[in-house]
Amino acid sequence: MQRIESYDIARWDGPFPRATQEAAIEALETGHVLFFPRLAFAVTEAERRLLDATASDGRSKNVSYDPATGETKGTSLAGDDLALLSGMVKRFAASARSLMHGLFPRYDAALEQARTSFRPSEIAGRVQPWRKDDTRLHVDAFPTRPLRGRRILRVFSNADPDGAPRRWVVGEAFEDHAARFLPKLRAPIPGSAQALALLGLTKSPRSRYDHMMLELHDAAKRDDAYQRAARAAVPEALFPAGTSWMVFTDQVPHAALAGRNAFEQTFHFDPSAMANPSRAPISVLERLSGRAMV
Ligand code: SIN
Ligand code: FE
Repeated sequence: MQRIESYDIARWDGPFPRATQEAAIEALETGHVLFFPRLAFAVTEAERRLLDATASDGRSKNVSYDPATGETKGTSLAGDDLALLSGMVKRFAASARSLMHGLFPRYDAALEQARTSFRPSEIAGRVQPWRKDDTRLHVDAFPTRPLRGRRILRVFSNADPDGAPRRWVVGEAFEDHAARFLPKLRAPIPGSAQALALLGLTKSPRSRYDHMMLELHDAAKRDDAYQRAARAAVPEALFPAGTSWMVFTDQVPHAALAGRNAFEQTFHFDPSAMANPSRAPISVLERLSGRAMV
């Protein structure tokens, strides 16, 4: 099954033809990566020197911008350089928002624009503990911010000035992925969600959904045999410099093997805004396990 679908879109702001919107929402919700080979994020001459690993502070992988607070974190740049960097990341945030608005008007009212990131550092060769190692296939689930079934949709753009592609592997359908690991996932320990929230380790109590998604993330990353087989099963997905793509990263197993100077925007929203909410991971997990997840 081909899980990457190309769209001939060359601008971040619509309007886009209705047929494109309809095809795009169907492909996205059924777990495809939408690939935009002609959609580049333009970096100005002045910004070009920021496309370098030194833009990050060395501790964080990514520079991140929070549209809610206007704060830029994870960078050691200051003064004029910091202003230039924030301006560039904010422009990507606005571009991604405009693409969402043009392609998916039905998500508009539900959409929460979360962090924007700039990912200057080369992925290949970076050593990470297995749980943080995104070169291993996984679905996204984050330990501190419970989502209670809300979706994670991410827009990426490769802006590498030297033309290095971003190399990914895209895995199996969510149903298959969840069914494969479900027997191995541990149930939450009663009271643990409240304890983690009280200790300030999570921003709110984890639901069963959050717990199961974290278990799924960990079970896949930990399983060497699965990683080897899944990577051997499909050709790599190459996202050349000057292209963009988007995907539900809570639904589509993905691994990022190599690349640098990418931008990423995260959106969250309630599955009720989907054209077909039964495709959301929460619905799939409820069907497979026979249990309510929130
Ligand atoms: C990830 O979400 O696992 C990393 C994606 C990327 O940085 O290309
Ligand atoms: Fe991920």
